[in-house]
Amino acid sequence: MSNQQSLQPLFESFQTDKLTLPNRTVMAPMTRSFSPNGIPDEKVAAYYRRRAEHNVGLIITEGTGINHPASVSGDSIPLFHGEASLGGWKNVVDQVHEAGGKIAPQLWHVGMTRKQGDLPNEEASPVGPSGLTLDGEKATEPLTIEEIEQLVEAYAKAAADAKRLGFDAIEIHGAHGYLIDQFFWEQTNKRTDRYGGDLVKRTQFAVEIVEACRREVGHDFPIIFRFSQWKMNDFAAKLAETPDELDQFLKPLVDAGVDLFHCSTRRFWEPAFEGSDLNLAGWTKKLTGKPVISVGSVGLSGEFTSFSDAETTSLDGLVEKLDQEEFDLIAIGRSLLQDPAWVEKVENGQADDLLPFDKSSLSKLY
Ligand SMILES: Cc1cc2nc3c(=O)[nH]c(=O)nc-3n(C[C@H](O)[C@H](O)[C@H](O)COP(=O)(O)O)c2cc1C
Repeated sequence: MSNQQSLQPLFESFQTDKLTLPNRTVMAPMTRSFSPNGIPDEKVAAYYRRRAEHNVGLIITEGTGINHPASVSGDSIPLFHGEASLGGWKNVVDQVHEAGGKIAPQLWHVGMTRKQGDLPNEEASPVGPSGLTLDGEKATEPLTIEEIEQLVEAYAKAAADAKRLGFDAIEIHGAHGYLIDQFFWEQTNKRTDRYGGDLVKRTQFAVEIVEACRREVGHDFPIIFRFSQWKMNDFAAKLAETPDELDQFLKPLVDAGVDLFHCSTRRFWEPAFEGSDLNLAGWTKKLTGKPVISVGSVGLSGEFTSFSDAETTSLDGLVEKLDQEEFDLIAIGRSLLQDPAWVEKVENGQADDLLPFDKSSLSKLY
């Protein structure tokens, strides 16, 4: 493990005209399903507060459902609409702020990954651009234009509520094969209207969401956009095969008003394309000039979704990439589930006290 001196790049402050953070660490969004009836309660607030107390620079909440009957699968996933759920989130924001932290909600719609009959609205059918599951099977009718426009407005309303409740930013979940990514992905978007076509045209839904959110939150409020090449059912999937395609994909999102990109990969050290060591975040920064968050197996030997135990590993490679300014911020997932004080321990040179990842931490809210 590195000595404290060499970890310095991780603990430098981060500043843009819209967002100032004390260090480069971000808590990755992680669905926990500990919010009965979609309402984040006192235990959820304490869980986020604990990470803020232990110096996490920016907390991104678990995915939280926008106002649409089929936005989530499960009645303990927190919602981001309705008085009771928003009241729960207000408490979360206040607790995190009291502890000196910053926090953004991750706005989520699961799209066609939802199964008919899933809670909280058993009667609501899953929705998606072409009614296709991630495996390409026809399950429902494609969304109508009117339904798409309502969904765009549901994201905008959530963004407005986030700002009103005192959140420091929003993150739009455009990754991993959920609704927005189903529009991006050729395999799930076969539309021939303005929401379908080539890769650039398939960004239209996301573009309208970002623009509508921007309209609601104004110029000064940070909008983070999370995207990935990989999908929950296909780790090898790619939206962009080349840097040029990535450039075409990102440009409309930049023009729409994204401030920061959160580039989701399962291993942060893997090059995005042949011929360069840059990872997806590195390429995104280079192509857009926007600040970026990287992510994937920080401090751990095994990657996300294997959901098995993992050993702790050195942070040297991470620090090197931060030092070279390949990316600006690093999101940490499972290590922060395992240990709420992970950031503080690393900062204080207590890395030897870090515990291996024990998958039982997935079923606890501590
Ligand atoms: C239990 C769990 C739940 C997750 N839920 C979400 C989610 O709601 N939204 C999201 O974008 N990513 C989600 N992820 C992915 C993480 O944000 C992160 O990208 C991934 O865990 C890789 O980081 P890590 O290797 O540091 O754990 C989840 C990961 C875990 C372990």
